[in-house]
Amino acid sequence: MSAVTSASAPVVAVVGATGAVGVELIRCLEQRRFPLAELRLFASARSAGKSLPFRGKALQVQELTEASFTGVDIALFSAGGSTSRRFAPLAVRAGATVIDNSSAFRMDPKIPLVVPEINPQTIGGRGGIIANPNCCAIISITPLWPVHKVNRIVRLQLATYQAASGAGAAAMEELRESTRAYLDGKSYANKVLPHPYAFNLFSHNTRVDPESGYNEEELKVIQETRKIFGDPDIRVSATCVRVPVLRAHAMAITFECERSITPAQVRELLQGAPGVKLVDDVEKNYFPMPQDATGNEPILVGRIRRDISDPSGRSISLFVAGDQLLKGAALNAVQIAELL
Ligand code: A2P
Repeated sequence: MSAVTSASAPVVAVVGATGAVGVELIRCLEQRRFPLAELRLFASARSAGKSLPFRGKALQVQELTEASFTGVDIALFSAGGSTSRRFAPLAVRAGATVIDNSSAFRMDPKIPLVVPEINPQTIGGRGGIIANPNCCAIISITPLWPVHKVNRIVRLQLATYQAASGAGAAAMEELRESTRAYLDGKSYANKVLPHPYAFNLFSHNTRVDPESGYNEEELKVIQETRKIFGDPDIRVSATCVRVPVLRAHAMAITFECERSITPAQVRELLQGAPGVKLVDDVEKNYFPMPQDATGNEPILVGRIRRDISDPSGRSISLFVAGDQLLKGAALNAVQIAELL
């Protein structure tokens, strides 16, 4: 049995500690004063020996091996799907609870897919794997849950404006470098993303399924929304686009409820809802922006208005922005760990 079940503070491991999400995991553990006995940092052999700051100390990064999980109670994974598939089962066997940020286990019916504001009850006991949802799924549906709870959303359509961070630290660097090169009039050969990124945008860089015409990111949002809401019948459609923003995603969302709903009712439901902040100043034309969401925990919500294409009065359009590395990844994972 894991030591988390005792009164003592857990030993926590971060796998992928040097990555864009890994660094934020460490920061969230520190900022939220997560009670832990020891923090162990793992990454690939390339990073072994590097050090990262935690609570005023420099912690050494170790190479991830099969023996890394002895004595670990909670392992936060953010090192890609193949690393999770290989090492998460080993961590569980060693007695750890794994919170996995990859897509490897999300749609496994035995594995909970958790947004603490929405479905904390699905966590069940300790031990095993808990999946952290796709960043777009978290950022789009956390603000919709308070509505769905009282007036079921039957249809949801979203268009995303996704930041570089979702593709990792190297993609963020590619955005910085290619922007610099563009402004200096120099050529730049993109290495991480498939298309020029500076002053450009493109359809999400995941593979398009030839049958449905949807890319993998869009399919994740569709399937994960149904699983997290526990509502297999909700109709969802998404268009996912990568935009030249460093680390906060934005989304234009239109949803249709079972019964009629007004913008004022949505505003009231979202006022003070956990994990959400209203930014909806019509007079000043001030609405959610990636720059305001960056580095902040809440998901910003605004432009709340009637969808005038639906005369039934059951549809609302709104706009959200949320930090992809925080609520879209690291913060949500640490909130799950807090529930443990
Ligand atoms: P490293 O920095 O040593 O390559 P990002 O999502 O920002 O690209 O970060 C990915 C994270 O996953 C990094 O910390 C990276 O470590 C880590 N990682 C990648 N491959 C492995 C692996 N095979 N074993 C352990 N960690 C890995």
